[in-house]
Amino acid sequence: MSKLENLVAQAKGILRTNDLGGYTVPTKGLYPFQWNWDAGVTALGWLYVDEARAWTEFDKLFEGQWDNGMVPHIVFHQESDDYFPGPDQWKVEGNPPTTSISQPPLLATMVRIIYEQSKDKDLAQAKLDALMPKLIRYHEWWYRERDPETTGLVSSYHPWESGMDNSPAWDDVLQRVPQVTRPYQRRDLNHVDSKQRPLKEQYDRYIYLVDFFRENDFDYQKIYQNCPFHTQDISLNAVLQRGTIDLIHLNTLASVAADMTSLEASVAKAEEVFPSLWDAERHLFLNRDQALEKAIPVSTSGGFMPLYSYSATPEQAALMAAEIKEWLVLGPSGLASTSPLESTFDAKRYWRGPSWLHINWMIADGLKHYGHDDVAEQLRQASRAIIEQSGYFEYFDPITGEGCGGKDFSWTAAIALHWLL
Ligand code: DGY
Repeated sequence: MSKLENLVAQAKGILRTNDLGGYTVPTKGLYPFQWNWDAGVTALGWLYVDEARAWTEFDKLFEGQWDNGMVPHIVFHQESDDYFPGPDQWKVEGNPPTTSISQPPLLATMVRIIYEQSKDKDLAQAKLDALMPKLIRYHEWWYRERDPETTGLVSSYHPWESGMDNSPAWDDVLQRVPQVTRPYQRRDLNHVDSKQRPLKEQYDRYIYLVDFFRENDFDYQKIYQNCPFHTQDISLNAVLQRGTIDLIHLNTLASVAADMTSLEASVAKAEEVFPSLWDAERHLFLNRDQALEKAIPVSTSGGFMPLYSYSATPEQAALMAAEIKEWLVLGPSGLASTSPLESTFDAKRYWRGPSWLHINWMIADGLKHYGHDDVAEQLRQASRAIIEQSGYFEYFDPITGEGCGGKDFSWTAAIALHWLL
């Protein structure tokens, strides 16, 4: 078997091993349920293994959709003692049980890619038609519940909602969240070296927020007013913007077209406000602290995500492409999640430095859109070199390429199948 064939076989094997019957766990042990944005990326990988199975990933995830349209960040399809906080902590009624927050909504974009690349067109059409109303309700939920004042950007209330849990971008905001005082036992440290995971102090605050949502009856109108963690996450907003653009396009392909006027207005409004988060000195976009009503001055890979949502000007895109090249000099093994020049940079600790393949891919996709194919290719080569060196880890030290976090990781395998191999 050639090296390439071997890498492809390994990636496909990881998806099969992590398949628990219609849904894929991110990795066994550490994450024993179905995660929202993992499911979207992983479905993309299934396209290269078993096209029908790619669609099932969405079907299973939407089993957890709330009546108000929200697609939760975790759907607890089965019981497991491997993970904390499980359904007994979130206490969301439902079958299957879920968490009470969401995650970057990349599902519509993944559905579009899979629909366009599918070979079984009849199946793809049937699946698209069935998924459209659910996707539309999900996107409408974001704008209605998370931007009740129509600012153009949606709010997040938990670092887990960003998917970039312990990013230094959230440090100051998280300080305003009290530390929970009740005892609890983390399970992640049974699976991964503590130096690669968030700190206890951060977990104390993460768990406080889990309790806070429950105590506020999951009423996100109320939570909008009083949540101690309240941000406008630039990466999540970019993923939402791109997702809604793709959803509007998918609507033209659906057998029955829906009225997209309100979603079109949301895209237009977001387009107006993205420029306000541009930082002309850092050459990227910043997250926003909603309590202080100001930008959070920390350079993270999320700041390049407006490339992926077509929300930058050509001049800003060129500046970001040059900035990304500089980051790649300091950390050549994929794009660091936090600038290597930030004092908080930590090469192996989750979102404080490591590179993540799905982020590399989304940013490369945006770079290509703006004509920066050379930098996109540099990111692709860097990402390919990491998996050749280290295999399919959850994330990678951007300086050495060492694999970190969970092993045999579904979305890393999926992105390799879709983009690298
Ligand atoms: C975790 O438990 O580490 C997850 O990132 C939460 O979604």
